[in-house]
Amino acid sequence: MLILGLESSCDETAAAIVTGDRRVLAHALAGQEEAHRPYGGVVPEIAARAHVEVIGPLVERALREADVRLSDIDAVAATAGPGLIGGVMVGLVTGKALAHAAGKPLVAVNHLEGHALSPRLADPSLELPYLLLLVSGGHCQLLLVEGVGAYRRLATTIDDAAGEAFDKTAKLLGLGFPGGPAVERVAKDGDPKAVPLPRPLTGTKEPHFSFAGLKAAVARAVGTASAADLAASFQQAVVDCLVDRTKRAIGRATGATALVVAGGVAANGAVRAALEQLAHAHDLRFVAPPLWLCTDNAAMIAWAGAERFAAGLTDPLDTLARPRWPL
Ligand code: KG4
Ligand code: ZN
Repeated sequence: MLILGLESSCDETAAAIVTGDRRVLAHALAGQEEAHRPYGGVVPEIAARAHVEVIGPLVERALREADVRLSDIDAVAATAGPGLIGGVMVGLVTGKALAHAAGKPLVAVNHLEGHALSPRLADPSLELPYLLLLVSGGHCQLLLVEGVGAYRRLATTIDDAAGEAFDKTAKLLGLGFPGGPAVERVAKDGDPKAVPLPRPLTGTKEPHFSFAGLKAAVARAVGTASAADLAASFQQAVVDCLVDRTKRAIGRATGATALVVAGGVAANGAVRAALEQLAHAHDLRFVAPPLWLCTDNAAMIAWAGAERFAAGLTDPLDTLARPRWPL
């Protein structure tokens, strides 16, 4: 089985080809960091236009890399939401056109399902159900992944996502865009105990998240300590929140044998290390996809498409893009 996947819901344009037996034959990706950097964040209109420019060539590159033709593809999977509507429409319409041209089915993939199933692409031995911490720029959730299309949400954020907090902290510290990797880099030279910062909602009964108060505390602390100490203290506060909330959810993750982390923030070394320790303390396996599979990419969309296609789940060509689409 050969699936072509397309991703364009935020600021990465990507095309990938994966097989039903988990081989990534091609994954082509174009970031837009340069285009958005002057604005310190993703500008939706600029993003949509940039997706239009590169998505066709990326599909051609992926087909070339995989050494297959469009007619060899069994289904075309495209992100249909959630995300920036202009960008989502570019990828979804491209997917529809390719599916129609090839006479193959379309699979409309929820971007969050792409992140949620990506650990299964990376690790064939990962068993269902698993407890998933999905931490990205737009989402921060704890999910019990019971199967394809079967996700039980145990907790979510009541304000910002963890990645958003990283991005805003980077901006406050003048570290530029994109923020997460920059904060992690600078934090390496800082003292995580230097600046006292809050750990919102830790210790509360429901495993929900909150990062708005932490972000505000960082804003107040700017100028009182070095950027390295602030970055390290902020990162430690996020790690402590993620660990405390995930620990709370472990008790509710009936049947789970693994703790899994996915999404852009899962690329963070301190986050991965702390969650690995937590998992082992609870006799759970720990699974985190390789870094390139944590941040947005099309291989995870192709893989979610492969899982849905194998389950007989395809979508009509009049499927609409959904800027908001809870899992
Ligand atoms: O999953 P993703 O690529 O896009 C969304 O679906 O949102 O996640 C992007 C988020 C951004 O907020 C980015 O700053 C954060 O993930 N991120 C990181 C790291 N790499 C990416 N946060 C902390 N440490 C990192 N190394
Ligand atoms: Zn994402």
